[in-house]
Amino acid sequence: MILELLKKRCSVRQFQNKPIPDEAIALILEAGRLSPSGGNEQAWKFGVINDKALISQIASISYNQLWIKSSPLLIVLCTEIVEDKRGGRDIQKNRFPRYAEEINELDKDLYSYLNSEEHQTKITGTHMILCALEKGIYSTWISCFDVEKVAKLLKLPKHCIPSEIIAFGYPENETKVKDKKSISELVFYNTFEE
Ligand SMILES: Cc1cc2nc3c(=O)[nH]c(=O)nc-3n(C[C@H](O)[C@H](O)[C@H](O)COP(=O)(O)O)c2cc1C
Repeated sequence: MILELLKKRCSVRQFQNKPIPDEAIALILEAGRLSPSGGNEQAWKFGVINDKALISQIASISYNQLWIKSSPLLIVLCTEIVEDKRGGRDIQKNRFPRYAEEINELDKDLYSYLNSEEHQTKITGTHMILCALEKGIYSTWISCFDVEKVAKLLKLPKHCIPSEIIAFGYPENETKVKDKKSISELVFYNTFEE
């Protein structure tokens, strides 16, 4: 039952020195592959990083989050930028029509970096972490990293932007689930205010 799995999920930042089996990695990637995406574009690439030296370098350029070094497996979720001529900027212009002119004028690189299209990789990542958890593999999301440095390190092509990194591994210590807000604090019905 997916809810039971969700109740177990928590971020883990200290992992055992134990590799993730190839079969588990294959399942995790398959879970990502099956994700929904706008227009079924599937505009993403998944970088499987299991080289210890590379993982260490990623930890350093993730604002020195040294805990990342204990992870035997990082998956770098990359967004492939939809070109302007294929409607790349139209998505956000449609969503925020009051700012259409400003969106048009925004520097292409900056626009690509900020474009929320990249957040679609959060769906692939969510699929992946749940699939991993079913196998006893915990994870933590990482979005605090220098995007351009990671792109350079992984020799990514220009149109491929690292959006999120997920660190996977077997927990070193007992896991602890954090408190979450109650339904009544989160939900509104119909309109927010009467
Ligand atoms: C999109 C996203 C980015 C995150 N980035 C980082 C990060 O860079 N470093 C980190 O240690 N934790 C990061 N986290 C983990 C959060 O701190 C964590 O999910 C939050 O404290 C709730 O704890 P839980 O995952 O155990 O429920 C991130 C989580 C999400 C969803």
